[in-house]
Amino acid sequence: MGEFAPSRAAQRIVAATAEDGAVALTWDDGRTSRFHHLWLRDNCACAQCRHPQTRERTFELLDLPEELDPPRVELRPDGALRLLWPENGGWHESLFDPAWLRERDYTNRAADTESRRARPWGAEMQGAIPSVSYAELMESDAGLRRWLHALSEHGLALLSDGPTAEGSLLDVVGRVGWARETNFGHTFDVVSKPNPNNAAYTAIKLEPHVDLPNWQRPPDFQLLYCLENGATGGASILTDGFAVAEALQREDPEAFEVLATQPVDFRFQDEESDIRFRAPTIGRDADGALCEIRFNNWIRDALDVPPARMQAFYAAYRKFWTMLRDPHFMIRFTLGPGQMIAFDNLRVLHGRDAFDPNSGRRHLQGCYLDRDLVMSRLRVLERTTRLSESA
Ligand SMILES: [Fe+2]
Repeated sequence: MGEFAPSRAAQRIVAATAEDGAVALTWDDGRTSRFHHLWLRDNCACAQCRHPQTRERTFELLDLPEELDPPRVELRPDGALRLLWPENGGWHESLFDPAWLRERDYTNRAADTESRRARPWGAEMQGAIPSVSYAELMESDAGLRRWLHALSEHGLALLSDGPTAEGSLLDVVGRVGWARETNFGHTFDVVSKPNPNNAAYTAIKLEPHVDLPNWQRPPDFQLLYCLENGATGGASILTDGFAVAEALQREDPEAFEVLATQPVDFRFQDEESDIRFRAPTIGRDADGALCEIRFNNWIRDALDVPPARMQAFYAAYRKFWTMLRDPHFMIRFTLGPGQMIAFDNLRVLHGRDAFDPNSGRRHLQGCYLDRDLVMSRLRVLERTTRLSESA
């Protein structure tokens, strides 16, 4: 139906009938769906209704009444659904590809949403982090697709055997798009610094956290590229925050509800900035699915919580924090020079063990990426590279 990406669904329509206000479809796997007349007319993909080049909608809903006369419905021999709408004394033809309709089957959305949910992981991910070599990512679309797929599916992906030259990180970023700039710059260097404005620039142990929850829009993905690691200690720690939140919801639904509904304040301040935002610790999207974790002890501001809820909040927060420290949910590894870890900053919490800055130099270069860029690049690659190439 005029999309740049081909529809992949394989099911066929076996019956189509006009009902009151909607067209009812029966599929060859037994599923039934109903598409409202207005919805079908709104999504007509003919050259008058959708721009043939940009594929954008040019049809305007307000040009037709809210109650449409029912269309004539037929199934074409090639399987397409053909609708004829009585309009302006004639007929307006809409053709629908069954695969396109199946992918947008809002009658059965609950079942489809379930299969698209993130798959949580725990300590078993240790030693099993999806990994792609630098050469594969830089030189082949299949390698890049595999890396992006892992990042979107599991919220983490490793890159191995890369160069250790300054700027290698940005070469990788260039394959996806461009880095998201923040108050820490276009890229940032995680080294112990003499006058740190942030815990990451010290050598201390870092509790699991997400970066920049004090922003209304925190960075979506974080990339940490190891240029040098001669220091003792400093292992990286990653925890799937969605897995922990789901476990909390099972074990203590009330505590989960407190963290998912009670907003808390976050604040970062230094000589040049004062960036604040207030949001719940566990974020859900409009469909109720987990969509973000905001947990960062350093920049959590003084709590502004209704007095009657203060005790319950602290109890829930302590429970969640204790679970975030649980080794069952955690993986621990040491990045070597030329390795890069990338993770979903709003799902996977990161931390590190303390290191001894006098034992050798430890230098990680980091930056952030927007989810829109990551997902867009992945979708475009999915149009052209076959799954078998990137499995
Ligand atoms: Fe961090």
